[in-house]
Amino acid sequence: MATSACQALLLMALAAAVLSTASGTLKYDFYSLSCPKAEEAVRNATMKIISDKPSMGAAFVRLYFHDCFVKGCDASILLNQSNSNPQPEKLGIPLRGYDEVNTIKAAVEAVCPGVVSCADILAFAARDSAMVSGGFTFPMPGGRRDGLTSDLSDIPASLPGPNMQVQDLIKSFGAKGLSAVDLVALSGAHSFGETHCSFVTPRLYPTLDKTMDRAFGVALQTVCPRRGGGGTPLDNNRVTDPNVLSNQYYKNVIAGQVMFTSDQTLRSDASTAKMVQDNADNPVAWMARFAAAMVNMGGIEVLTGTQGEIRKVCGATNSGS
Ligand code: HEM
Ligand SMILES: *[C@@H]1O[C@H](CO)[C@@H](O)[C@H](O)[C@H]1NC(C)=O
Ligand SMILES: *[C@@H]1O[C@H](CO)[C@@H](O)[C@H](O)[C@H]1NC(C)=O
Repeated sequence: MATSACQALLLMALAAAVLSTASGTLKYDFYSLSCPKAEEAVRNATMKIISDKPSMGAAFVRLYFHDCFVKGCDASILLNQSNSNPQPEKLGIPLRGYDEVNTIKAAVEAVCPGVVSCADILAFAARDSAMVSGGFTFPMPGGRRDGLTSDLSDIPASLPGPNMQVQDLIKSFGAKGLSAVDLVALSGAHSFGETHCSFVTPRLYPTLDKTMDRAFGVALQTVCPRRGGGGTPLDNNRVTDPNVLSNQYYKNVIAGQVMFTSDQTLRSDASTAKMVQDNADNPVAWMARFAAAMVNMGGIEVLTGTQGEIRKVCGATNSGS
């Protein structure tokens, strides 16, 4: 779905104009004086990338999630290996979209060199992915600064896993200041993008997970063999268009047609099950919750003011060390 900026549903009544966070304050229109075209440059570049390659919207949204959950939204996920960061986060989990983030950064640098952080570029690109791939948009505050370090050993304690049950997912999000409402709303990102058999086979063998729809599971068994084939790619959403961000995810949860235990378990608790049903029934209400949760996620452990730096390129710190 290629939606233009003016066709997208604009969700405004989300949050106050200023988002307070533990470590500083982000602001809407943060670059209005220092680089008035910053958000437009990100939007143009992001729209072009996704229209050329529709699966990139999911890649940007997942990069943003991983950036924010591991050591805060500081673009640590984007750092390449270097002397001072011999084991950066990106070596821990394979993610897509790094070259494309560099392309967006280059477009922004061409307009205002040295002003806009990679952490903000990622947040704006994730927001704009919802516009292009989901047909709705919303204000995203800026003012994040880029961190100097990245260490894959931070990942296990920070990121939830696909085998987790709902109470542990709520704890994992709670540790980052996000609510169960945010957890359920953001899980809707699994309406688009890709996964791999290795994350699904534990639910297929030796017997099909009882919470999975039987026909859906049998079809998955033919794609994902019991042994080997863990790297075979699969669409997160096997029911409708896998490049569209939408509330289809919640319909899939209700039908038992989702990939991970961490998806299906949202139906096993009365309160999250009610949220799943409500998001399935009310697409616009889900969009507003997703938008608010994306903003909340963007406030996790941010660097602001004079902390960190504004990187020249997203893959390396300015000292290059
Ligand atoms: C609730 C806990 C979550 C767990 C356990 C989880 C787990 C996973 C796993 C295992 C994959 C497949 C990775 C692969 O095969 O390469 C995946 C994909 C994805 N996740 Fe999540 N995720 C969670 C929450 C989120 C959130 C909060 C977002 C963003 C708002 C998100 C966005 C995505 C996207 C867009 C993809 C597809 C990526 C692509 O196409 O490359 N996930 N997730
Ligand atoms: C964004 O694209 C529009 C439409 O093509 C163009 O008029 C505008 O100059 C572009 N802005 C930037 C900052 O690249
Ligand atoms: C980081 O690594 C990627 C992939 O090897 C490369 O394309 C990119 O240019 C690197 N970035 C920097 C700043 O070194």
